[in-house]
Amino acid sequence: MPRHVAVIMDGNGRWAKKRLLPRVAGHVKGVELVREMVRACLERGIGYLTLFAFSSENWRRPQDEVTLLMQLFVKALEQEVEKLGRNGVRLRVVGDLSRFEPRLQELIRRAEETTAGNSRLELTIAANYGGRWDIMQAVNRMAAADPVRCGAWSEADLEPYLAMNYAPEPDLFIRTGGEERISNFLLWQLAYAELYFTPTLWPDFDTAEFDKAIQSFQKRERRFGRTSEQLTEAPDA
Ligand code: IPE
Ligand code: IPE
Ligand code: MG
Repeated sequence: MPRHVAVIMDGNGRWAKKRLLPRVAGHVKGVELVREMVRACLERGIGYLTLFAFSSENWRRPQDEVTLLMQLFVKALEQEVEKLGRNGVRLRVVGDLSRFEPRLQELIRRAEETTAGNSRLELTIAANYGGRWDIMQAVNRMAAADPVRCGAWSEADLEPYLAMNYAPEPDLFIRTGGEERISNFLLWQLAYAELYFTPTLWPDFDTAEFDKAIQSFQKRERRFGRTSEQLTEAPDA
C-alpha cells in the first residue's frame, strides 16, 4: 500500500455538464466522493491522504462558482469534522488561508484543533494552495530564521518549512478528469511520486477506481535513480 496518496480531484464541472446540471451539482457530488475516499483509506490502512480542493488559480473562476465552493467547504467542515474525529482522522488545511473569510478560517482552526489528537489517517485539504507559493513561503521563513547561512542552505534545511512538513512525500499521485498536468499542486513533494492519470471524472471515482490506481502503483518499480538490478540484488542498499 502507498503510505501517502495525493489527489487532484478534477472533472466535477464536466460531470455536471454531461447531465445538463449546473457545475455546482458536480462539486456537491464531488464532496460525497471525498467521504468515500476517506473511508477507503481508513479501510486500507493508508496513513496520509492529501486532496487538492481549491488552487490559488481557482479564484479566476466566475464569482458565483467561487462563492459556492466556499459555501460547500464551510458546510463540509460543519457537518463532517465530528465524524472524522470519531474515526481517528486528523484534519489539516494547507494553503494561504488569509484570503478566506474569517468564519471559514475559524472553522478550519477549530477542525484542526478538535482532530489534533488523531493519527490513524492524516487528511490534508489543500485550499488556496499553490506549489510555488509553498516553496516561496518556506524559503522566506527559512531565510528569516537564519539569514547568516544564506548561500549555504540545503534541501534538508528547507523541508521543515514546507506546508506539509508533517507528512512523508506522496508515493502515489492521482489526477482524475483526463488532464495530465500538475496544475501547481505539490511541486517539491511530488519529485518521486508515481503518477496516475485517469479519464474518470472525480464524481465517478469510486472505491473500485481507487483500487485500480493502487494496483497500478503496486506494479511499478521505484528505482530512485538506481538500476533495476541493484534493487533485486540488495533491496535495502
Ligand atoms: C475540480 O473540478 C474541482 C475544483 C477545481 C474545485 P472542475 O470544476 O475543475 O471540473 P472541470 O475540470 O471543469 O470538469
Ligand atoms: C486543479 O483543477 C485544482 C483542483 C482540483 C482544486 P483545475 O481544473 O482548476 O486545473 P486546471 O486549471 O484545469 O489545470
Ligand atoms: Mg478542472
